[in-house]
Amino acid sequence: MEAIGHSERWLQEADFFDAKATTRADRPEPIDPRIVERYTSCGRLFSKEYCCRLLGDLRGKTVLDFGCGEGDDALLLASLGARVTAVDLSPKAIAFARARASLSGLADRIDFVCAPIEVADLPPAHFDVIWGDNILHHVLPVLDETLAVLMRAAKPDAQVIFTEPVSLNSTLRRVRFLLPIPTDATPGERPLDLPDLDVIRRHMPDLTKRHFRFLARLTRLILPCGSLESASPFRRTLMRIIAAIDYALLTLPVVEKLGGISVLYGRAPVASQQPDGVTPRLVASG
Ligand SMILES: C[S@@+](CC[C@H](N)C(=O)[O-])C[C@H]1O[C@@H](n2cnc3c(N)ncnc32)[C@H](O)[C@@H]1O
Repeated sequence: MEAIGHSERWLQEADFFDAKATTRADRPEPIDPRIVERYTSCGRLFSKEYCCRLLGDLRGKTVLDFGCGEGDDALLLASLGARVTAVDLSPKAIAFARARASLSGLADRIDFVCAPIEVADLPPAHFDVIWGDNILHHVLPVLDETLAVLMRAAKPDAQVIFTEPVSLNSTLRRVRFLLPIPTDATPGERPLDLPDLDVIRRHMPDLTKRHFRFLARLTRLILPCGSLESASPFRRTLMRIIAAIDYALLTLPVVEKLGGISVLYGRAPVASQQPDGVTPRLVASG
């Protein structure tokens, strides 16, 4: 893809996610208590359950939610006891998330920042947790610089957890690009591949991966509403069985590369140095 400047990339992203948020703007809803209940003491068969288990007790912790979108995770993490800073460059998504936080009684636990992460004024060495859900694959042209910005905001040894679409099997990747599957995506996004994971590892040397969604790619068929909490008991059970089979299969080294989603986690470096050769670019270029 042709390289584009920061400002143009930011505008494309903001336009795309503003348009999505606009369709929901007049019906913000508070967080569903069933979601909070699910993640308060959860299993690990689904990626977000796995992440919440990794986090442990969030009470009193500071969390940076990078690319918070319409606030699903910021609301959940704040409900679980964290003090959240939620950053996103889409003004409409941020406005929607803020309205949901107010309706949920969480406004005083979440600071919303509407800015590209590259220029958000984040305090250095401040966060106990850096969290990103489906965001790194939106900043691939500046992955290295973005990770440097995040690591500077993290306390030494902070937990870092990303959930990202991945495409680690080259054959599957080729097949996927041949199929005319309709996608609803921004221009530069694509699943992370092995070289991208190498970039992440430069900033988080103990990078660990846990893969999800092999058979569970069928989720759209089984859960047309997209939500496990509001699905019928039959559909919930079916999803849990498929997720359990997935979990077992994706533990096998040969199969793990077939997972469509990865939880990528580790710790921020203890030394405050950036890896060699990384100079965060904090000034917008056109
Ligand atoms: C796929 S959405 C994920 C939203 C949310 N994390 C979730 O899982 O529901 C990606 C979000 O990242 C935001 N985004 C993209 N590039 C960004 C950047 N450079 N800085 C801040 N936010 C960005 C977009 O506006 C969008 O809301």
